[in-house]
Amino acid sequence: MNISVIGTGYVGLVTGAGLADFGNDVICVDVDVRKIEALKNGEIPIYEPGLDTLVSKNVNEGRLRFTTDLPEAIRAARAIFIAVGTPPKPDGSADLRYVEEVAHSIAQHMNGPKLVITKSTVPIGTGRLIERIITSHGKEHSVSVVSNPEFLREGSAIEDFLEPDRVVIGASDKQSVELMKEIYAPLHSLEIPFVVTNVESSELIKYASNGFLAVKITFINEIAVVCERVGADVQDVARGMGLDSRIGPKFLQAGPGFGGSCFPKDTSAMADISRRHGYEFEIMEAVLRVNDAIKLRMVDKIAEAVGGELRGKTIAILGLAFKPETDDMRDSPTIPIINGLQARGASVRAYDPQAIENAKMFFKDITYCDDAYSTAEGADALVLATEWNEFRALNFDRIRKALRAPVLVDLRNVYDPHRMRTLGFAYTSVGRAEDAQK
Ligand code: UGA
Repeated sequence: MNISVIGTGYVGLVTGAGLADFGNDVICVDVDVRKIEALKNGEIPIYEPGLDTLVSKNVNEGRLRFTTDLPEAIRAARAIFIAVGTPPKPDGSADLRYVEEVAHSIAQHMNGPKLVITKSTVPIGTGRLIERIITSHGKEHSVSVVSNPEFLREGSAIEDFLEPDRVVIGASDKQSVELMKEIYAPLHSLEIPFVVTNVESSELIKYASNGFLAVKITFINEIAVVCERVGADVQDVARGMGLDSRIGPKFLQAGPGFGGSCFPKDTSAMADISRRHGYEFEIMEAVLRVNDAIKLRMVDKIAEAVGGELRGKTIAILGLAFKPETDDMRDSPTIPIINGLQARGASVRAYDPQAIENAKMFFKDITYCDDAYSTAEGADALVLATEWNEFRALNFDRIRKALRAPVLVDLRNVYDPHRMRTLGFAYTSVGRAEDAQK
């Protein structure tokens, strides 16, 4: 099918490349001339494992191209995916400006029946709003608006696109559902479940999924606090809980709080949507409050590890991105943590395998280093903030010798406490008991 994907951010680019890989003819559109020029030259603007290969393969096979010409892309497509940004407004609600602009452009340039699909995470009712905008232009061609939320994790987005747990389709007519099934045809043969519902349910499935995962993470983060007070071990508690198939083991990894471009934005939008419909979604509100508090707790944890006083201390931070395998700094827990350390008088040295360039937009007065060992040089503590694989098997003798004091604060519970203590570190992690039996 001829498809256009509007917006070549993270979601748009992965969607465009993935749909082309399914055999569709895809045009990816963006207003950003520099980005489109770069993509035409085979440069991928974000770090996402496997994306460059998927893009170049489909470009070479003639199924994927890039343009800034929106009218042409609208005319060429039977199906138009909207994947533009929906950034949060100061009150937590999603800003639909770009989505609305695209809807107006579709109405202006449509030259036949169009299937319009929202991939961007949009508040409930946006599908109907797009339909109203397009039909208000009074064109004779038919339009159907479908919701098809994305469930891509940064760092494993390609796998999530090509082999998803489910495909959610929110539509109001049978023909649209059939067209969507055609677009996603290869997933049928993999027996991936398709959840077909109305537009509102589909839009809510996205928020409910991200909201629930945020609850799960926040729950285990609070359990970690309790563990520290009662002498329990959060890893063991999570395992003991997670083996119950009703609970499941995933997203029970305690840490410095969730971040990224999705969970913080979507939990806050979920609370806002609910409020606007006259209901205080108390769990969502609590998750937002607790998640902020958890991040600040990490500053206290680091302070305690260096003896209580941060003034005059140098703290070495390993990892800046909100999670490994991405260069994304948006809402990374390291932002409030580093700001908190600096506000209390500490100097910060930091290293991240991919995110340093993006980090420079968020921090002042940090010394950026080239690897874990140079980061540790002369520091009063080494803090593991993002669990990149390259930090898992460091040469800890070298690290200990580079540090001014052998203090290791593991905010991702990656290292074995017993081993770290044997290696001579004063070791702190999140919610783990010293005497947990392995
Ligand atoms: C998340 C969802 O997992 C995707 O399904 C969804 O499509 C995406 O948002 C989106 O809405 O676009 P992502 O933000 O890329 O994906 O990353 P996750 O792997 O979900 O991690 C989010 C945050 O939670 C990270 O800060 C991570 O460190 C934290 N986390 C995750 C934990 O602290 N503990 C866990 O057990 C899992």
